[in-house]
Amino acid sequence: MDASAPLPIEPVGAALPVPCVDGSERRAIELDQAASTQAHPAVLRAVEEFLPWYSSVHRGAGFRSRRSTTAYEEARRAILRFAGRDPDGDDVAIICRNTTEAINHLAYRLRLGPGAVVATTVVEHHANLLPWGRVAATRHVECGPDGTFTVDDVVRVLDDGAPPALLAVTGASNVTGWIPPVDDIIAAAHQRGIPVLVDAAQLAPHRPLPLAADFVAFSGHKIYAPFGAGALIGPRTAFEDGDPFLAGGGAVDLVDLEEVVWTAPPEREEAGSPNVVGAVALHAALDAIAGIGWPAIIEHERALSRRLRSGLAAIDGVRLLGPDPTGPDTLAQATFVVDGMDHALVAARLSAEHAIAVRHGCFCAHPYIVRLLGLGPEDVAAYRARVRRGDHSAMPGAVRASAGLGTSPADIDALLAAVGELAAGTPAPVPYEQDPASGDYFPVTDVPGWADAAGELGGSCVPG
Ligand SMILES: Cc1ncc(COP(=O)(O)O)c(C=O)c1O
Repeated sequence: MDASAPLPIEPVGAALPVPCVDGSERRAIELDQAASTQAHPAVLRAVEEFLPWYSSVHRGAGFRSRRSTTAYEEARRAILRFAGRDPDGDDVAIICRNTTEAINHLAYRLRLGPGAVVATTVVEHHANLLPWGRVAATRHVECGPDGTFTVDDVVRVLDDGAPPALLAVTGASNVTGWIPPVDDIIAAAHQRGIPVLVDAAQLAPHRPLPLAADFVAFSGHKIYAPFGAGALIGPRTAFEDGDPFLAGGGAVDLVDLEEVVWTAPPEREEAGSPNVVGAVALHAALDAIAGIGWPAIIEHERALSRRLRSGLAAIDGVRLLGPDPTGPDTLAQATFVVDGMDHALVAARLSAEHAIAVRHGCFCAHPYIVRLLGLGPEDVAAYRARVRRGDHSAMPGAVRASAGLGTSPADIDALLAAVGELAAGTPAPVPYEQDPASGDYFPVTDVPGWADAAGELGGSCVPG
């Protein structure tokens, strides 16, 4: 990788300095791109250009209203194109808040009957686990110690009893960055007549969406459009019958006090005033991704992934979770533990001493992290008892560094150097105190920005 090559994007705020406990201000190194990405400059421009024209969508005869409605519907078409769907074809894009809402929406909308089964995997984010447990019995594909499973593992679960009504699987793990063989998994499910939802929250910013997936969900804030819009894509027929997830204005053709005539999808699924600013932002981000092109995106991120994962694996006292760095394709993401050091303290020190932003904890994927850390049922029971007492001071977890299109090789090298120092036992320049209620560490210092941090700055990774 040419370290001097321009980055595919310079996100809004890329040059912003943040305070460090040595009193310096340094450019923030954002290695938490799997959680949320800073805005693409084209997204900001599109929002600024749109706002003077902002008005209600589908609810006004004024010129601004009509223009806003057009912008919203153009965003919908862009989402379908991004997912490889024909905007005039059989699929609809429902614009919602984020992946969590999209999957809850689908879980409600499939109207699964008593006895229905949904197959999913232990690798999933809670957003693709918890909604299914509420509406169906679930069967789970297990992973091996390296956090991966094979197509055969999936097939065994699909064939192990009554055929599932749906297979819900992630397109890429938010913990290890592993990219399951989703196309082959979908083919195996389809051979059995089982539809597939792909949770593409992590996949969408980094790889093309799987064309054969029946349903796809993703979030704008993970793809450089943090304005509160995401999408659920699926066949129009899945939304044509039954009452929608949200009931209200905009979703109906006719209402009297006894009877409702719901309108056709996708509007049927979008009761309430839509988030047109979020839709405009998402549209701009998807166009920007198309402008960069998948080959350039994949090349940039594969090089970062190799540098990050092999670099961490080579540090004494650091254990990389998930597949081997020389193993299967992963996103430019790595989750690791530093021997003898609480993950919350590692993350706090990277931030306060090095201006490096990472995430720590269980990454909203508790079953997966329990397996990756090799915790047994007694460990889990003990942690559960502590949490029930309100004590988060010794929670299991790890540290995650995740890169994106605004990450440079130098950013990765800065992380590797900082983690190397921590793993080598370099003493902290200031004491750190832990808040037992959240488990977070805060530096004890008078330095502006960090002074009184425990009271003034938000908790880092508290609930999962
Ligand atoms: C794989 C995966 N699925 C779902 C989600 C939930 O996304 P959101 O918080 O945007 O709803 C996330 C968020 O981190 C994720 O990584």
